[in-house]
Amino acid sequence: MPGPEDTGIVVADAIAAAIHAGATTLGLATGSSPLAAYAELARRCAAGQLTFAGLQAFLLDEYVGLPADHPQAYANFIRDRLVRHVDLDPARVHGPDGTAADVLDEALRYDASITATGPVDVQVLGIGVNGHIGFNEPSSSLTSRTRIKTLTAQTRQDNARFFGSIDAVPQHVITQGLGTICEARHLVLTASGSRKAAAVAAAVEGPLSASCPASVLQWHAHATVVVDEAAAADLHAADFYRYVLAHKIADQGY
Ligand code: F6R
Repeated sequence: MPGPEDTGIVVADAIAAAIHAGATTLGLATGSSPLAAYAELARRCAAGQLTFAGLQAFLLDEYVGLPADHPQAYANFIRDRLVRHVDLDPARVHGPDGTAADVLDEALRYDASITATGPVDVQVLGIGVNGHIGFNEPSSSLTSRTRIKTLTAQTRQDNARFFGSIDAVPQHVITQGLGTICEARHLVLTASGSRKAAAVAAAVEGPLSASCPASVLQWHAHATVVVDEAAAADLHAADFYRYVLAHKIADQGY
């Protein structure tokens, strides 16, 4: 795709197609990567082209220890950036509770709740510059379940832009595991900008390895990677991917 707005349209197309096909459960990422898609979904909802009525959603992850009203708590981030702009019932948007007294137990509870009322029909994913999805940092088990993870210094530095300083970024998170994420029926990973180019190439064309957690998409039956030209810059087979996109047959979808 030429730029981030174009990736947003394609990701929104994939979500809308799932909803029109009867999806009941969305998987939502936070961070900057999906924002163009969320803006496009809000636009379609306002235009009466799409409804989220009756759907439920699960967040990928949450910081441990942020106060419940902190604007960077992911429950608040997704409320502000998507939920309040569409007709998705806030009571049906679920995330792990990073303020729980026992966060180890909370991770297990959250994982079980996804299993009980899922599966997720379409899971939106961003990617970290080190190849993480959710907050599964490099060396995460490819079959991991929802659990506590410790953020790398790189991820805390990258997310310091949302907090003002690296010291304000929590050290721990609750994140869906790679095994949990892979139970979604359709994975849609989106990235834009040159900082993501190496991670995107490692995920799509590198070895399947815990060293690049996003490479687990190679093992999934239905995974779609939606990137702009800058994020695609290190892909060896980019010309082939463009060719495939230009020659999709009718109704093939993403
Ligand atoms: C957030 C998440 C993370 C982000 C990733 C990229 O819910 O799951 O994996 O998608 O850290 O962050 P941005 O999009 O801010 O570059």
